[in-house]
Amino acid sequence: MPGADTSTKEKNFYTDIPAAKHSFFLKGLDQYDWGMKSRLSRMFNPKSGHTVMLAFDHGYAYGPTTGLERLDVTIAPLVPYADCLMCARGALRSCIPSDCDKAVAMRCSAGTTILDENVFVNECIGVDIEDVIRMNVTCMAVQVCIGSDNERNNIENFVKLVDLGNKYGIPVLGVTAVGKNMARDKRYFGLATRIIAELGGHLVKTYFVEDGFEDVAAGCPVPIVIAGGKKLPEKDALTMAYKAIQQGASGVDMGRNVFQSEDPIAMIKAIRSVVHENATPNQAYELFCDLKAENAKAAKTTKKAKTTKAKK
Ligand code: R5P
Repeated sequence: MPGADTSTKEKNFYTDIPAAKHSFFLKGLDQYDWGMKSRLSRMFNPKSGHTVMLAFDHGYAYGPTTGLERLDVTIAPLVPYADCLMCARGALRSCIPSDCDKAVAMRCSAGTTILDENVFVNECIGVDIEDVIRMNVTCMAVQVCIGSDNERNNIENFVKLVDLGNKYGIPVLGVTAVGKNMARDKRYFGLATRIIAELGGHLVKTYFVEDGFEDVAAGCPVPIVIAGGKKLPEKDALTMAYKAIQQGASGVDMGRNVFQSEDPIAMIKAIRSVVHENATPNQAYELFCDLKAENAKAAKTTKKAKTTKAKK
């Protein structure tokens, strides 16, 4: 083994040089087979090279998170505006119409829950590959807690899924989760994303960091999507998405910043403008406000019509 990196030389991620691309629009993935690339092209828009993923997999460990109490009421209406749905298989089967024709990143690890202080750290592979194929899943998502007490197990689950993914042409999304003793900074995310990619992960989900995200993205040889994290004011969430895309992310996988928004449909449309059309945070926020006002007006008109009908 090479031993720890003791070099005092400053790292150089050559952020001014775009990653080498050959025959496929997503970096680092051009040497895979047709099926894998076909699935990736459903998740990512081949024109923009980016994706808007809608994450609502919280319930598999946290139960009915605010905004996800009724997936059929709050999430189903958002489905048309997402490129890819990220969820657990039970949520998909029970609440999402099978004719929705969207890419699906299925949460394929499972383990402890919110009732255990080590939630996410001690997971197993939670879905049989046959069920993944039966459900026409586009991508398998698995938690990888680099630096946790259970690091070895996490990596073992991950590489098993990567082998299965390669066997059946299904990409695997490694989801970084911050170990207890690690800071949420560019050093940690640079380490975790790179390890996931070197272990064969096809895609990596991580968090945006203000300082050094460009290096994190450049140092990861496969596409990165960012998680939204806790709910922020809409303009701040749009700004974070904008910075991530401009600094090398290939998409966002946002949950609470969409479904806990004052207007989730307006919010996901505004996020799309940032991810696919390079809208600035100001332009996207303006779009959000306009759409929110339009939706509120339409809801008022519908309510008035219902009241009038009821009175007749
Ligand atoms: C991350 O480990 C899981 O996929 C989360 O459920 C997901 O990232 C949550 O999305 P958000 O942080 O945007 O609410």
